[in-house]
Amino acid sequence: MEIERVQDISSSSLLTEAIPLEFIRSEKEQPAITTFRGPTPAIPVVDLSDSDVESVARAVVKASEEWGIFQVVNHGIPTELIRRLQEVGRKFFELPSSEKESVAKPENSKDIEGYGTKLQKDLEGKKAWVDHLFHRIWPPSCVNYRFWPKNPPEYREVNEEYAVHVKKLSEKLLGILSEGLGLWREALKEGLGGDMAEYMMKINYYPPCPRPDLALGVPAHTDLSGITLLVPNQVPGLQVFKDDHWFDAEYIPSAVIVHIGDQILRLSNGRYKNVLHRTTVDKEKTRMSWPVFLEPHGEMIVGPLPELIRDDNPPKFKPFAFKDYSYRKLNKLPLD
Ligand code: OGA
Ligand code: NI
Repeated sequence: MEIERVQDISSSSLLTEAIPLEFIRSEKEQPAITTFRGPTPAIPVVDLSDSDVESVARAVVKASEEWGIFQVVNHGIPTELIRRLQEVGRKFFELPSSEKESVAKPENSKDIEGYGTKLQKDLEGKKAWVDHLFHRIWPPSCVNYRFWPKNPPEYREVNEEYAVHVKKLSEKLLGILSEGLGLWREALKEGLGGDMAEYMMKINYYPPCPRPDLALGVPAHTDLSGITLLVPNQVPGLQVFKDDHWFDAEYIPSAVIVHIGDQILRLSNGRYKNVLHRTTVDKEKTRMSWPVFLEPHGEMIVGPLPELIRDDNPPKFKPFAFKDYSYRKLNKLPLD
């Protein structure tokens, strides 16, 4: 059966100014009702070019302990490369359906790679206003070009170049976070599987939605990853849950948004928080984002780092192979 893409639903909804019922969230979730409009604390911003490396490290550690999310500027990924990454991704999603479907996730695939739309409705039976493309970008042994768009032709070159930069930045941040735990620089990288850890590119495509007050892009979740490095386009939409409220994240041009995911929460035995976040959609504009999830390989067993465990810091999490953790979370099975 043909899978219905949100991009096509958007085109017909814009004519009728209405959206299908399965996209209308309950009142507990509707962004118009649940977004906090009072004074909002700003997500921490860290300037990585600051020569005071200790104060940079303190800011990264504090943001990860208190928020589980921060934005980095002067991060070393060239602005022009980010612009090209966004351009090739946008061009892909603007291709005719038949071309996009040529890299669609196969129906019987157990993996997430490929062009897709989340089929699984959530607990309340609601759908998300977003299409996506997933493909691994690192290490080379995990890359399957079958799921990389052939068009635009520069797609591959740009993503390969981005992979090198995103890896470098991720490892730098993991080094700071490891030392923040009082451990050697490589501790968290090794905890995620060292050079076997995988970098999964995702492009989110949120087409215009006539009822952004009622629908959500990605519903509330924490990332499965260790850490996620995301660049958005200029259309706001990311929201973060903190102190019992949903806040809009501020858009900072050319910043990279860093999310602490479940695996860093678990490796750090709860010191670093996995941020709860979701996305809203826009009435007229297409929002896009490019998260890269740094994840352990499937067999890698992840639990609190043994060096952190003491009588006064007993393990808070049960170790799981990453593939089992993912399966259990997706299927809402117990994780303790
Ligand atoms: C995600 C996600 C946020 C965004 O894809 O996991 O949280 O800004 N995306 O699109
Ligand atoms: Ni996320």
